[in-house]
Amino acid sequence: MAQEPPTETLSNLLQESRRFAPPAELAAAANVTEAAYGEAAADRLAFWEKQAERLHWNTKWDNALDWSNPPFAKWFTGGQLNVAYNCVDRHVEAGNGDKVAYHWEGEPGDTRTITYADLKREVGKAANALIELGVNKGDRVAIYMPMIPETVIAMLACARLGAPHTVVFGGFSSDALRNRIEDCGAHIVITADGGYRRGAASALKPAVDEAIEGLDHVRNVLVVRRTGQDVAWTDGRDLWWHEFVDGQSEEHEAQPHDAEHPLYVMYTSGTTAKPKGILHTSGGYLTQVSWTHHAVFDLKPDTDVFWTAADIGWVTGHSYIVYGPLSNGATSVMYEGTPDTPHKGRWWELVEKYKVTILYCAPTAIRTFMKWGTEIPAQHDLSSLRLLGSVGEPINPEAYIWYRTNIGGDRTPVVDTWWQTETGALMISPLPGVTHGKPGAAMRPLPGIDADVVDDQGKPVPDGGGGFLVVKEPWPSMLRTIWGDDERYVKTYWSRFDGLYFAGDGAKKDEDGDLWLLGRVDDVMLVSGHNISTTEVESALVSNPKVAEAAVVGATDPTTTQAIVAFVILRGDSIDDGDALVAELRDHVARHLGPIAKPRQIMIVPELPKTRSGKIMRRLLRDVAEHRSLGDVTTLTDSTVMDLIKEKLPAQK
Ligand code: WT7
Repeated sequence: MAQEPPTETLSNLLQESRRFAPPAELAAAANVTEAAYGEAAADRLAFWEKQAERLHWNTKWDNALDWSNPPFAKWFTGGQLNVAYNCVDRHVEAGNGDKVAYHWEGEPGDTRTITYADLKREVGKAANALIELGVNKGDRVAIYMPMIPETVIAMLACARLGAPHTVVFGGFSSDALRNRIEDCGAHIVITADGGYRRGAASALKPAVDEAIEGLDHVRNVLVVRRTGQDVAWTDGRDLWWHEFVDGQSEEHEAQPHDAEHPLYVMYTSGTTAKPKGILHTSGGYLTQVSWTHHAVFDLKPDTDVFWTAADIGWVTGHSYIVYGPLSNGATSVMYEGTPDTPHKGRWWELVEKYKVTILYCAPTAIRTFMKWGTEIPAQHDLSSLRLLGSVGEPINPEAYIWYRTNIGGDRTPVVDTWWQTETGALMISPLPGVTHGKPGAAMRPLPGIDADVVDDQGKPVPDGGGGFLVVKEPWPSMLRTIWGDDERYVKTYWSRFDGLYFAGDGAKKDEDGDLWLLGRVDDVMLVSGHNISTTEVESALVSNPKVAEAAVVGATDPTTTQAIVAFVILRGDSIDDGDALVAELRDHVARHLGPIAKPRQIMIVPELPKTRSGKIMRRLLRDVAEHRSLGDVTTLTDSTVMDLIKEKLPAQK
């Protein structure tokens, strides 16, 4: 039986007033102290120039920021560097070649240890292979891979040559892959026969074959053998990595590229419209991912073992599995598979095995672990952990406390990090040696980041007020444009408020001026003239001990404009006694947030529809709540989920 935390705590969570001060030892040795805020406030550009010194530049920049043509920013103009050299070679040259870059663990339990020297050799060979395939600086390369070391090697080989990569999550369909390959005009696709997921080999190569049919600009497909499953082969086009790459010379001298040279295009998860190809460039991006990784995760390269439990196919993986950690010479864990294979304690087994000190993951994972119960992590020694991070959506106070208590042994700070594919790196987050954390709050903009909450006129709201999250000044790792569509870039991000970057998120400032993220503004409901955030209702539901996870949408309602409809997953040991439970949960929300927030309808469901990056697709739930046929489901992790949900629906009234 899952052991539940005391209910006195639970009933107070929404008014959770506990603050968690940094542990004294961590604060005393923290990489970044309070002084950084003052320093950055005094001279933001000088602050970022100082952080850029973390990197090796072949030519120093002339100008920190060129903002002469807003909103098109150029950082560190005139500067030249090589991103892969910064992530690999310089650590080897500094005598750290034997240091482990990745403890890699395959889902079936096979392992590989990759040192910085190994990485240098492998990246050199892969770079030479791409050159032989005619890849020139500026050419795009698509990467459609499982979570294996070759994925990182391929990215770094591209970075080395200045060939922007576009990594497409290995779980995406061939349609999604084709759209992305077409949109960025890739010439080469790097893939694998398959990868392991949920205990079985899951094929990737057939999706590539389908995706590139008739696309003349794709010349070659480079295939890593991972699972050994049968693959169809197109002679002259397809090449095995172990034949073509392994035979190449390890020697490749990295050439410097301009600070603004494109590094990669990452397509956003596409919960709504056509995916946007977010363009990131080299110098500013690497500066901010490197510094934030150092500052927010307090990374000590000689003693920490860092684990971002996310997929490389989304920006969290790019910035905090690959570029941030490698630029800092960190040792990371990289895991191929799912958290419940072969058993639900797999993550905790890995933490124990590799003595992970810093874990970074998403609230959706944390809530899944809550659902599975505390006895599972309790079976493992998690005492190596000293810092926990969260990203991807607002972390409910309940999940924050659960994470801190059951994973962090009530000792580790939790850093709730707000950022986006578009921002490239962390933007709003506690500093673990400085901030007194509040469960559920991302707290303050990091030093060097000028973000605020404004009203619909673009005026800053006072403390205690709510509105829209904006960024007021350009930041080094900001997106430079949407690939091939400058106009959409301006329209999407810079048109809602004059001169401000509009993130699309709702937020509020509490009485101390700390920031609470409330989800996408499209997820704010209008109920009888009141704005109610889906996140707040979800947090209220999750604070009931019977609830593991909740998703809330506003459905059109003839009397109240929108009515609140909630989809709820119960914790493992809770009993669904039908109407009684629904009544209890509705009252629970009313008690916490007021009667106005009482859901009209609550449906107990087995699963929720999520994108690959773990975001709930409220659009689909709204379709269900409004009895419409479902929109595009291609970005769902598991498209059968919607059938499971529809089965649970009451007959239409
Ligand atoms: C959106 C960006 C950045 C990598 C993960 C997702 C939401 C992200 C938080 C957080 C509240 C968060 C926002 C944001 N989000 N982190 N700590 N608290 N909301 O990247 O897919 O580009 O999504 O995720 O709504 O706009 P993404």
